[in-house]
Amino acid sequence: MNVIKAKSVEELNKKAAVMIAGQMLEKPDSVLGFATGSSPLGTYAELIRLYQEGTIDFRQVTTFNLDEYVGLGQDHPQSYHYFMKENLFSKVNIKAENTHIPSGVAADAQAECRRYEEAIGAAGGVDLQLLGLGRNGHIGFNEPDSIFGKETSVVKLTESTIEANTRFFESPREVPKEAISMGIGTIMKARKILLIAYGADKKEAIEKLLNGEVSPQMPASILQLHPQTTIIYAD
Ligand code: GLP
Repeated sequence: MNVIKAKSVEELNKKAAVMIAGQMLEKPDSVLGFATGSSPLGTYAELIRLYQEGTIDFRQVTTFNLDEYVGLGQDHPQSYHYFMKENLFSKVNIKAENTHIPSGVAADAQAECRRYEEAIGAAGGVDLQLLGLGRNGHIGFNEPDSIFGKETSVVKLTESTIEANTRFFESPREVPKEAISMGIGTIMKARKILLIAYGADKKEAIEKLLNGEVSPQMPASILQLHPQTTIIYAD
């Protein structure tokens, strides 16, 4: 793993955006894996800035997001569809048809998982996958478990994740209890991975990710086995 400790969150955002921009310059038709949560917000703001100043161009880019809440339609303000539109897609020249996020309201959720996994394959796989880090070490919505989940599937959220995400909803009752998430296997197939994390509530998870044993109880730890992973973190 290539590990970078940034001196500030601003520096982390810049470094992460530069890595993604570098990927886009090297391969204008890159397939990028995107993440949601508060961690990537600054990175997306930097990407928007790089786009506005003409350094990067999203015209040929394809994206696949990690996950979506089951039960939230794309117009729900807490859906990840809405998040991506608000925080990135509507502000750059990406083609809407090239952006992919699992549907949280598909009539057949299992079929939606299979369709999503196949769509990633049909696009040639992910060149660079951006990841945040859950407080309990989850990536995407792959929660601590006794095994590493392989493919895109419907997952149950843990109490700790529901509690962490309650801040975005009016009450804990409104936080969806399930999500569709790329599996650990899906994530590990990405040619390059970039994980960003910062803040006191991530300290323990970052420490375990960098120095702990590889275990499905700490889903992000599997990144230690990926040949091209960069971790950028800050206090
Ligand atoms: C959610 C998302 C993850 C994200 C995590 C951390 O559970 N599914 O992809 O990494 O939250 O979020 P935050 O960056 O807001 O701490």
